[in-house]
Amino acid sequence: MESNIPKLELKGIQKFFPGVTALANVSFSVKKGTVHVLCGENGAGKSTLMKIINGIYQPDGGSIHIDGKEVKIQNPIEARKHGISMIFQELNYIPEITIEESIFLGREPVNKLGKINWKKIRKDTEELLKQENLPYSPTTQFKDLTVSDIQMLEILKAMSYNSQVIIMDEPTSAITRKEVGILFDKIAELKSKGVSIIYISHKMEEIFKIADEITVIRDGVVIDTKPASELDIDKVISLMVGRKITNAYPKEDIKIGETMLEVKELTDGKHFEDINFNVKRGEIVGFAGLMGAGRSEVARTIFGLDPYLSGEIKVKGKEVKIKNVKDSINNGIVMLSEDRKRYGIVGIRSITENVSISNLEKFFYKGHLHSKKEISSVSNICERMKVKCPNLETSIDSLSGGNQQKVIFAKWMLRNPDVLILDEPTRGIDVGAKYEIYKLITELAKENRAVIIISSELPELIGMCDRIYVMASGKITGEIDREKATQEAIMKLATRGE
Ligand SMILES: Nc1ncnc2c1ncn2[C@@H]1O[C@H](COP(=O)(O)OP(=O)(O)OP(=O)(O)O)[C@@H](O)[C@H]1O
Ligand SMILES: [Mg+2]
Repeated sequence: MESNIPKLELKGIQKFFPGVTALANVSFSVKKGTVHVLCGENGAGKSTLMKIINGIYQPDGGSIHIDGKEVKIQNPIEARKHGISMIFQELNYIPEITIEESIFLGREPVNKLGKINWKKIRKDTEELLKQENLPYSPTTQFKDLTVSDIQMLEILKAMSYNSQVIIMDEPTSAITRKEVGILFDKIAELKSKGVSIIYISHKMEEIFKIADEITVIRDGVVIDTKPASELDIDKVISLMVGRKITNAYPKEDIKIGETMLEVKELTDGKHFEDINFNVKRGEIVGFAGLMGAGRSEVARTIFGLDPYLSGEIKVKGKEVKIKNVKDSINNGIVMLSEDRKRYGIVGIRSITENVSISNLEKFFYKGHLHSKKEISSVSNICERMKVKCPNLETSIDSLSGGNQQKVIFAKWMLRNPDVLILDEPTRGIDVGAKYEIYKLITELAKENRAVIIISSELPELIGMCDRIYVMASGKITGEIDREKATQEAIMKLATRGE
C-alpha cells in the first residue's frame, strides 16, 4: 500500500571525515505527515546526517529514498527540488543582507524580461512579515536583528518553500517562549498538510510535545527508534548517554565572600534602566527573564561591548570605567556570549588557537610563543570539558555545535577570571555535557570567583544559583533567594508589566 512507503528513507548512511567516523551506519525513515525527532549527544552525528539529506555533504556509503525511489542529492538546490528544506543549527548569515534578500536568495522571481522582480519580492516579504506579526521592514539588515528574530526568519523561510520534508536542527535554541509556541502551532499545521518534519533538539521537555517517533543516535549509529508514546525523558537520556543521570545539578554549599562586582543605577538609555545588583566571591547569581527583557544587554554593557549612559560599575569596591572589552578583561571580568557565531569563535582557526587567542600573554615568554605550554593548557581544559574532536589542531568549524560551545567555554576558563558572565552557557549542549559544565561552574565558585548565569532554562537557574534576579522590560523586577526560587515565583516577576 502506498501509505506504507515512507516519505523519506535512509539506508546504511556512512560519512567519514579525516580522523572521524561521523556516521558509521545510519538507517531510519520518516513517514508522511509526522514529526520524527532525532536525539543524541554532542558530536553523535545528527547535523552531519541532516546535511547529507540536504545535499551539503555526499555520503560515503548508503542510499537516500524519497517516496520509495532512490535519489542522489548533490546540493541544497537539488534537495529543494525534491521537496526538502532545512533550518540550520548554526546561524550563518551575511550581516549586510536584508530580510527580503535573504528570504528570496536563490529563488528570486523574475519578470518577463528576465530581470529580478524586486517589487514582487518587497510585496511578498511585507506580506510574510505581516502575517507573522514581525515588526520589521523588508529592507532591515540582519546585523540589526536579534538572534531570536534571525532564527524566526530562518524558520519562516524554510516553511515558505512549500517543502514536503522540513529539517529543523535545534530551531528553538534562540527563540522566545512565545515564538516556540508559534513554531509548534506551525508544526501542527504542516503535519496536517502532510508535511514530514525531522526535528533535532537537546530540550527534552520540548521533544515530547511534538514527537511522533524518536530515534536516538550515538557515535554515528542508531541506538533505537520508537514511537514517542513508548518513551519518556529518562529513557531517552539513558539511550543517549548509555547510563542514567541522577543528580542533574551538582550545586554545593560554598562560603560566600566579599562583593566582587556591584552595579548601581546602570542605564543605557535604550534597553535597560536603573539596574542594581551585586555578586560576591563564591556566589552563583542568576538572571532570569523573558527574551528581550534586557539581560544580555546589561551583560554586554558590563563586558564593554556596549556603552552606558549613567550609573556605576564597581569591582572589588572600586568604581571602574568600562569603555571597551579590554577594560573589563583587565578588571577580571569575562563573558561567554549567547551568539557564538558573532562574538565567540574564529571559524577557520584550530581549537588551540581559539582557546589561547584571548590568553596569549600567558604563553609568551620573552617574545616567543611557548607552544608546549599553550598546548598542554589547552588540552587539559578540553579534556575536562570532554570536547569531542580528532585532535586540537582540528579547525573549530568542523566541530559539532555543542562542542564548539565547549571550546568557547574552555577559552574563558583559562583566563582565570574573577567575574564570569555566562549568557546561556548550556545552549545546544547535551544532557551529559551540561552536567560537566555545571560541575565546572561549581568549581569556579569554589575557587572564589563570582559567577553570573543568564539563562532561559528556569530549572538550570533554580538548580545552580544562590540568588536570582528577575528582569522584565529593561528593569529588575525582583530578587529571589535560593530557598524561595520556584518557576512560578520567577515567572510572576518576569511577566510583570506585560
Ligand atoms: N566538516 C567536518 N569536518 C570534520 N569533521 C566533522 C565535520 N562536520 C562534522 N564533523 C565531526 O563529525 C562528528 C559529528 O558531528 P555533528 O555535527 O553531526 O554532531 P551533532 O550530533 O550534530 O552534535 P551537536 O549536538 O553538538 O550539534 C563530530 O565528531 C564532528 O566533529
Ligand atoms: Mg548538530
